Amino acid sequence: MTTDLAPAVAPASEPVTAPRPRTFSGIQPSGTVHLGNDLGAIRNYVALQAEYEAIYCIVDYHALTSTHDPDLLRTRTREMAAGLLALGLDPERCTLFVQSHRPEHTELAWLLCTVTPVSWLERTPTYKEKQLLQPDDINHGLLTYPVLQAADIVIYKASLVPVGRDQQAHLELSREIVRAFNRRYGDTFPEPQAVYTEAPVVFGTDGVKKMSKSVGNTIDILAEPDLIRRQVMSMVTDTQRIKRTDPGRPEVCNVCQLQRFFGDDYEDLWEGERTARTGCVDMKKLIADRIVRHYAPARERYLELMAHPEEIDGILEAGADRLAPKARATMDEVRQRMGLR
Ligand code: AMP
Ligand code: TRP
Repeated sequence: MTTDLAPAVAPASEPVTAPRPRTFSGIQPSGTVHLGNDLGAIRNYVALQAEYEAIYCIVDYHALTSTHDPDLLRTRTREMAAGLLALGLDPERCTLFVQSHRPEHTELAWLLCTVTPVSWLERTPTYKEKQLLQPDDINHGLLTYPVLQAADIVIYKASLVPVGRDQQAHLELSREIVRAFNRRYGDTFPEPQAVYTEAPVVFGTDGVKKMSKSVGNTIDILAEPDLIRRQVMSMVTDTQRIKRTDPGRPEVCNVCQLQRFFGDDYEDLWEGERTARTGCVDMKKLIADRIVRHYAPARERYLELMAHPEEIDGILEAGADRLAPKARATMDEVRQRMGLR
């Protein structure tokens, strides 16, 4: 696990009764989870539950900037919750909830908007990307998106934020917003730090772009095995390896890179590629088998949960209720500091 800054570990001299530091992350309900989500972020969500007070949020308010079908949003929110639980989030050890169930997030976002220069938002890389991706729908929510993200984190005064590298600019903006607020109204919020996994950017099956639902280059880890296999077999490998007898270059081959996360033998496998003992198709078949096998128990849990939606809804409701006192306490403090009381 790596962070942008020094890790926020408690000093050894601190009493064991000190409150656990808090971690927060959000994920959009934009379809079911893909390999990039898991390797880039969810693995850390799961790991951090052990040591931190962990809060995880399905960010449906954020999703409204791109998803406008109410039924689809509702379905995807539940699917995302089931996916996260299936992959190891444990409601006994973390709090999982839906963003819109704690409306304080949007109130705080408005207040943070008043300390955020528009120019910071206009230069955000994701805003520029979205302008290209959805040119007919450049809504105001896309511009304000990072302010709501900052509000999500700081309303719980979280210090660590497990995310993929694509969120780096958003996290930097969150820190700037915190500094701007603290400067104007006094020390209120800690500056959140990003935490990355060993795979902070997972490339998609096209081998060029970051794996992402909106690009359509995903490996859907909780899907039926046939679909996973088809997605893996469609992966672009080393484009300079034309003939089966050409030596492979594992360092640039997307499939070989994935082998690092599914088994301890990747160096042997890479040697096979370099010497052309194995071909790209062999490598793909192997990784497809390993991915299917690795996620089979999670897929089973996912299907079980989806068969009992009331159980999922209960976990999400309990999560939002548990957070109410924390969100309200922060809002009282913020309103007081800003002259709203
Ligand atoms: P999203 O699906 O965009 O809400 O992303 C949820 C989490 O997964 C965020 O922390 C992202 O940074 C992370 N993530 C999404 N796609 C990738 C990827 N291709 N590689 C690494 N991390 C990713
Ligand atoms: N922007 C994040 C993404 O697209 C989702 C998100 C919303 C988030 N609020 C957050 C991530 C707070 C970390 C912390 O993946």
